[in-house]
Amino acid sequence: MNTPDLTAYLNGRFAPLGDLSVPVLDRGFLFGDGVYEMIPVYSRKPFRLDPHLERLAASLAAIRIANPHTQAEWRRIIETLVRHQPFDDQSIYLQVTRGVAYPRNHAFPAEATPTVFLLADPLRTPLPAQVVSGIAAVTQADVRWLRCDIKAISLLANVLARQGAVDAGVAETVLLRDGLLIEGSASNIFVVRDGMLLAPPPSHLMLTGITYDLVLELAARHGMPHQVREITEAELRSADEIWLTSSSKEVLAIVTLDGTPVGNGAPGPIYKAMYQHYQAFKTEVMRTGKDIQ
Ligand code: PDD
Repeated sequence: MNTPDLTAYLNGRFAPLGDLSVPVLDRGFLFGDGVYEMIPVYSRKPFRLDPHLERLAASLAAIRIANPHTQAEWRRIIETLVRHQPFDDQSIYLQVTRGVAYPRNHAFPAEATPTVFLLADPLRTPLPAQVVSGIAAVTQADVRWLRCDIKAISLLANVLARQGAVDAGVAETVLLRDGLLIEGSASNIFVVRDGMLLAPPPSHLMLTGITYDLVLELAARHGMPHQVREITEAELRSADEIWLTSSSKEVLAIVTLDGTPVGNGAPGPIYKAMYQHYQAFKTEVMRTGKDIQ
């Protein structure tokens, strides 16, 4: 594999990605024992950094890793990493593991220093064709654990769910648990029915996206009728519109679910309105850094 020529960060050091490595005894490697964030950066301005850092702090607390940095330190590391890249729109991957320990033992080691890794990639937003025509998705039973609110690096079930989409030749897998819509393999899912935007309620069964919060905020700001409530599988399958949201995918319309057209099989009017609101917010607020968060 060719390592891309990017400056990354590992445990206090900025260096070319290809020069960085982690010991094989790192618990992230052995146990998937760690958490992560993905933070989009527009025109060199990290998007909603505080909520991302708060979610990181919550994930760390949930798995009982002491946060290795203060908010101010995280901010400084991220701003320095952003400055190091030759491109303006970035996607920051940030990972903290419990660190390196021997012997291998599931229980926490008596002493370990968390491993902190950050990488800034060029931000890859959806292709124009995906925005215009929408994407296809399939459904699967959600077989993940009961703490999907933790942004954990142990992502095997998400990996298998996303591969299920790739195997089916579609873009995303929508997860259902006990007859209810939960989220996508790496996205949140919204539904429109009879002009009402519906979002599943945050719980320990899903990751509440920073984009999910923004979409609800934009709906409120622009007077779009919306409700946060449980959505049944039957409601999902008879929805007028289905959308997915994430930091990199922004807002995308799902126009086919398990091979069946959603609504009339094209991105719907409420999606188009939200897409415009999102793009306007990106240009006017995210890129200028005017966001209050
Ligand atoms: N994932 N739910 C899951 C399971 C996710 O993995 C993600 C994002 C989201 C949306 O969160 P946000 O809006 O904050 O990006 C919801 C990122 C992009 C990833 O795994 O790379």
